Amino acid sequence: MSNFLNKNKMPVVLFIITAITCIGSAFTTTQSKPYTGGHKNLQVLPKDISDDSLDMIMDGFKAALNVKCSFCHVRNEAEQKMDFASDEKPEKEIARHMLRMTMDINARYFNFDSSTRADTISVVTCATCHRGTQHPDPESVASDMQAKQAAWKKQN
Ligand code: HEC
Ligand code: HEC
Repeated sequence: MSNFLNKNKMPVVLFIITAITCIGSAFTTTQSKPYTGGHKNLQVLPKDISDDSLDMIMDGFKAALNVKCSFCHVRNEAEQKMDFASDEKPEKEIARHMLRMTMDINARYFNFDSSTRADTISVVTCATCHRGTQHPDPESVASDMQAKQAAWKKQN
């Protein structure tokens, strides 16, 4: 799994992030917040990721799954604040696994162009499968497709 931390895979991550963000939230021009340090437990994302990029990825996760931050992160009740570094919730570890998988799909199957920009091609994002559901099981996918088809038929 360590190859996901490989420097030349980073453009893929950043591209996924951008794609997720575009889907997940409207474009807002925020001032760029550089790396301020202090992220204690990044195992997949680059450890020196900027605060802005991390925020964008997390907002993208939230939108793609239609959940709150607390779906993956626990709150420290004693300190009365969120403990983002904690791995207490199994959903967080699944999300890491999903992040690796998504990066892998893009690198492996959409990297057919051998140009220097090829590894920045990121076609698949969390939203491709999740589409606002936490758990994209076959039933939810099928009923979603049926609803879309019915709506389309009404329009045409
Ligand atoms: C679908 C699950 C999921 C959701 C929802 C989510 N996160 Fe995360 N978050 C993660 C994962 C996974 C990591 C660790 C990534 C890694 O290991 O590289 C992480 C890491 C972080 C970190 C870095 C913590 C540290 O010190 O290591 C912060 C800060 C954070 N998230 C904030 C947020 C905020 C704020 C939200 C809501 C806007 C949010 N997250 C929503 C999965 C999620
Ligand atoms: C190729 C399709 C696909 C992509 C891309 C994908 N997921 Fe998933 N995800 C699934 C499926 C299918 C499940 C349900 C797995 C199961 O039933 O075992 C799932 C389950 C999950 C769960 C567990 C939900 C629960 O109900 O406990 C989390 C969290 C999650 N995904 C996060 C993410 C994040 C974050 C991304 C983007 C980095 C992502 N996924 C990208 C298909 C995908």
